[in-house]
Amino acid sequence: MAPFFSALLLAASLCLPTTSAFYLPGVAPTDYLMSQKVPLNVNRLTPAMTEYDESLKSLIPYDYYYKRFQFCRPPDGPKSISESLGSILFGDRIQTSPFDLHMGKNETCKVLCKTEYTKKNAEFVRSRIMENYYYNWLIDGLPAASWHTDRQTKRDYYSVGFPLGTYVESKEHVDVGLNNHYDIIVEYHEVKERKAYRVVGVLVQPASISSKDLGGGKGDCTDRSAKVLKEGTEVVYTYSVYWKESPTPWATRWDKYLQVDQPQIHWFFLIDAAILVFFLTGLVATTLLRALKKDIAKYNQFDLDEDVQDDSGWKLVHGDVFRTPKNPLLLAIFLGSGAQLFFMTGATIIFAVLGFLSPSNRGSLATMMIVFYMLFGFIGGYVSSWTYISFGGENWKRNLILTPLFVPGLVFSVFFILNFFLIFEGSSGAVPVLTMISLVCLWFLISLPSSFAGSWMALKREPYHPPVRTNQIPRQIPPPPPYLRPLPATLLTGLLPFAAIMVELIYIMKSIWFAKVYYMFGFLFLCYGIMIMTCATATALMIYFVLCGEEYRWHWRAFWGAGMVGGYVCLNALAWWVGKLSLGGVTSNVLYLGYSLLMGFLFAVLTGTIGFFASWAFVHKIYSSIKID
Ligand SMILES: *[C@@H]1O[C@H](CO)[C@@H](O)[C@H](O)[C@H]1NC(C)=O
Repeated sequence: MAPFFSALLLAASLCLPTTSAFYLPGVAPTDYLMSQKVPLNVNRLTPAMTEYDESLKSLIPYDYYYKRFQFCRPPDGPKSISESLGSILFGDRIQTSPFDLHMGKNETCKVLCKTEYTKKNAEFVRSRIMENYYYNWLIDGLPAASWHTDRQTKRDYYSVGFPLGTYVESKEHVDVGLNNHYDIIVEYHEVKERKAYRVVGVLVQPASISSKDLGGGKGDCTDRSAKVLKEGTEVVYTYSVYWKESPTPWATRWDKYLQVDQPQIHWFFLIDAAILVFFLTGLVATTLLRALKKDIAKYNQFDLDEDVQDDSGWKLVHGDVFRTPKNPLLLAIFLGSGAQLFFMTGATIIFAVLGFLSPSNRGSLATMMIVFYMLFGFIGGYVSSWTYISFGGENWKRNLILTPLFVPGLVFSVFFILNFFLIFEGSSGAVPVLTMISLVCLWFLISLPSSFAGSWMALKREPYHPPVRTNQIPRQIPPPPPYLRPLPATLLTGLLPFAAIMVELIYIMKSIWFAKVYYMFGFLFLCYGIMIMTCATATALMIYFVLCGEEYRWHWRAFWGAGMVGGYVCLNALAWWVGKLSLGGVTSNVLYLGYSLLMGFLFAVLTGTIGFFASWAFVHKIYSSIKID
C-alpha cells in the first residue's frame, strides 16, 4: 500500500506544476502587427456567484444578442464563430461584436451605439442585474476578466467575466445601474524575433455612467455619476481601450486565470483524505486477509471431519454464491455502461493531466469525453455481453441491442426534456437542433457499431467458470443481523468512497454551476485513484460480511453498495440546493435538480461497476481457495 501511495503522490507532484505551465497541442498563438485589428467576440451571459453575494440565483444562460438586452450589434449583423461540439453542449454561443480594437492603439471614450430601453426590456435587464449576470467576452480566445484580490491570501487573481450591472439595496428601493461603459485593458507581449505582438491578458472594468454621444463615434465619458436604468432611459454605450506591455509570455498567459483558490487548503484536505482513506483501506484489507486466512485454514483442516465444521460462515453458501442473480440482463447492461464510463473518465483524466486539454480550446474537455465515450462503446458491449453469458443469461440478442441503447438513451431523454425547459425560457443554453441531431448520428454511427462489435467478441469467448459448483436447490437464507439488512449495508458502503471524493466534488460542482475554470486535473487524478480503491475495498468488505451471514445474493448488493456513492452525490447536491442556492423560477430549479439527478445516476453506474467487479474478483478468490468435497 505504502509504495503505491508514494508513487501516486510522486506522480501528482510531477503532474501538478505542468498543468499550469504548459499545454501540449494547445492552440497556436496568433501574431498581430502593430495597429492590426484584434477581434473582440462575445459569448452568452451567465449568472454568477459574486464575492458579496455567495449564492446563485439562476442557471439560465442568455444569448448576448437576446433582443431584450438591446446590446449594440455589428453594422452587418452578428456572425457566429464556429465551435467544437463540447463547447456548444456546454452552452457557449460565441458571436462577433461591434468593438473596434487595434493592437497597441489606445482609445478613450468611443461610442458604440445609443439605445432607448422599453419599459418591459428595462425591467428584464434589471432582473438580470439583480441575479448577478455576467458578461463573457473573448479577445484572442482569452476571456475578459475582472480583477480580484483574495481576502485571505491577499493574492491577486483574474476571475472570468465581469458584471452586467450593479445594484445597491436600501430599505425603500433598489438602485440598479447597468454597466454601459467598459474600460478594456489588454495586455500584450512583444515577440522580438518576429516583430509581432500577442495578447496575453484581458481585463475589463465596467461602469454605469452618464456617457454622452458627441457624434462621429466620439463620446464624453467624464460624467461618472451612476446611471440608473429607468423606464424610457436612453443609454449610450461607450468604451475605452488601453494597451499595456506585459512581460508574460504567451505560453503562460492562462496562469493567472487558473489560480487555485487557496491551494494549500485544497492540498491539505486531499492529503488528509488520502491518508485517512489509505489507512482505512489498509486496515480493512489486512483484517480481511487475516480473517480469511484463519477461515480457510480452519475449513481445510476440518474438511475430513464434517461434524465439527463451524455452522456459520461464508463457506456454507458455496453451492449458491454463483447462482444467477435476479434481472441478469439489467445488471449486465449497467455493468457494461459502467465499464464504458470508467474507461472514458480514466482516459479523459489522464489526457488532462498530461496537458492535452488547453483552456484556449473551449469545450475540449466535453468534446474529449464524448469522443472517448463513443469509442469505448466497444468495451461496454464486451463487458455487458460477457457478464451476461457468465450469469447464465440466454437472451443474448436482447443484451446486445439494449447495452448501447439503455443508459445513453436514458441520459439523452433527460437531456432532451431539460432542453425543452431552456427553449421555453428563450435561453441560449438550449442546445440547437442541429447539434442534437449530430449527437444522435454520432451515437448511432460510432457508439452502436462499436458496442455490437464488442458484444460479438465477448459472445465468442468462453463464459466465466465458477470455482465451485452451484447446487440445484437454493439454500434457505437466515434473517440477517440489522446492520446487514440491504438498506443500512448499502448506506454504509457508499459512505467511505464518498467521503474520499467529497472535497474534489465540491470544486467540480463550483466549476460547473459557477462557471469557474476547472484546471486541477492533478488533484482529480489522485482523487479518481482514491475513489477506485475505496469503492473496491469497502464493497468487498461488505460482501464478506454478507456472505458470512449466509446471504448469497451478493450481485446486486455489491452494485448498489458502491453505487450508493451516486446517491450521496445527489444528496450533496440537494444539500447545496437547500443551503447555498437561492434559485428563482421553475426552470432554474428543474435544471439544477435534473442535472444533479443525472450526475448522481452516472456516478452510481460507474462506482457500482467498480464495486461489483471488485466483489466478483474477491468472491472468486475466496471460493477458489477452499476445498470442496
Ligand atoms: C496606453 O495606455 C496605457 C495605460 O494607460 C499606457 O501605459 C500606455 O503607455 C498607452 N499607450 C500609448 C501608445 O499611449
